[in-house]
Amino acid sequence: MKITNLKVLVTGGAGFIGSHLVDKLLETNNKVTVLDNYTSGKRENLSHCLDKIQLVEGDVCDKSLVYSITRDIDVIFHLAVQCLRVSINNPEINHEVNATGTLNLCLAAIKNWVRRFVYISSSEVYGSAKYAPMNEVHPLLPTTIYGASKAAGELYTLSSYKTYNLESMIVRPFNTYGPRSHFEGAYGEVIPKFTLRLLNDKEPIIFGNGKQTRDFTYVSDTVAGIFMAAQCDELIGDVVNIAKASEVSINALLDIIKKALSKEHIDAVYDESRPGDVIRHVADITKAKRLFRYTPKISIEEGINKYIEWFTSQGYDYKELFKKDITHNWQ
Ligand SMILES: NC(=O)c1ccc[n+]([C@@H]2O[C@H](COP(=O)([O-])OP(=O)(O)OC[C@H]3O[C@@H](n4cnc5c(N)ncnc54)[C@H](O)[C@@H]3O)[C@@H](O)[C@H]2O)c1
Repeated sequence: MKITNLKVLVTGGAGFIGSHLVDKLLETNNKVTVLDNYTSGKRENLSHCLDKIQLVEGDVCDKSLVYSITRDIDVIFHLAVQCLRVSINNPEINHEVNATGTLNLCLAAIKNWVRRFVYISSSEVYGSAKYAPMNEVHPLLPTTIYGASKAAGELYTLSSYKTYNLESMIVRPFNTYGPRSHFEGAYGEVIPKFTLRLLNDKEPIIFGNGKQTRDFTYVSDTVAGIFMAAQCDELIGDVVNIAKASEVSINALLDIIKKALSKEHIDAVYDESRPGDVIRHVADITKAKRLFRYTPKISIEEGINKYIEWFTSQGYDYKELFKKDITHNWQ
């Protein structure tokens, strides 16, 4: 199915990945509606295209809104989420938004004969690697309520296909970074947080020994993968990993950021691990390559440079931003 000239709904479209996906969907001539309640998303992430989209402020937990907004929609990309760090202290809201919210979307899509439902899951459903690289049949052993709630969303998505023939598919992105990623509060991610601390000449804080690894993927590569997966008919009722497929430790990541900012002289400080932190993540993307010739393009060094170029061109007051930084942002 070609995703062009269609009516598309993006939940969580004012967020980091969602707003880049909206850009891609507009480039490919789709009519885009965004549903977002701005818990972590921002209207300004879409300020460049507000005249081209329908932006609806609302909650995926609001069943009647979800039902009415999915009427007359061809394709749903479901990204709305409560994040991992929120799940540590507030697991119920994670369950409500990530699991129940996904069920609401599936049921509304079934009732309204939506043609395709694309669920954006997460590598967090795997937990720590039992073997590496991790392919799609790796067992689901989430270590956090966030991972568990994303896995519940996957199961609702797959069973909606099996029972009701809702044409659906699951995309599992690995850690994504790039412009518009979060540095603030509970939503702050490691790359923006290291960048902000270094720009303020403060030591970056590593939780754990820094040997934990992630498969950092630049946002344009993640969005390209989501878009290609959504068009792949062979993926209906199935799951695919989307990632750069290279393993980077947090210690190595920090070295790359320090080099890009010329802050090699600033050493990290080490603190206790975050509860439930995954130790090892690296994707096997053979399936995405085979099904739709997915080829991630941006290396971690290039991606970090691009991110820093963007961050430092925003006119931010680094000192003011840093005042609001929460060190242990899951507590
Ligand atoms: N960023 C990553 O590294 C990463 C990695 C793997 C998977 N993912 C997945 O990608 C998707 C997008 O993640 P992101 O990093 O862009 O996160 P984000 O926090 O930037 O985006 C989530 C969006 O959902 C919105 N939202 C939250 N609760 C809502 C609700 N109840 N109703 C409507 N909207 C709501 C937020 O306001 C925000 O705009 C998520 O489903 C996430 O699980 C992200």
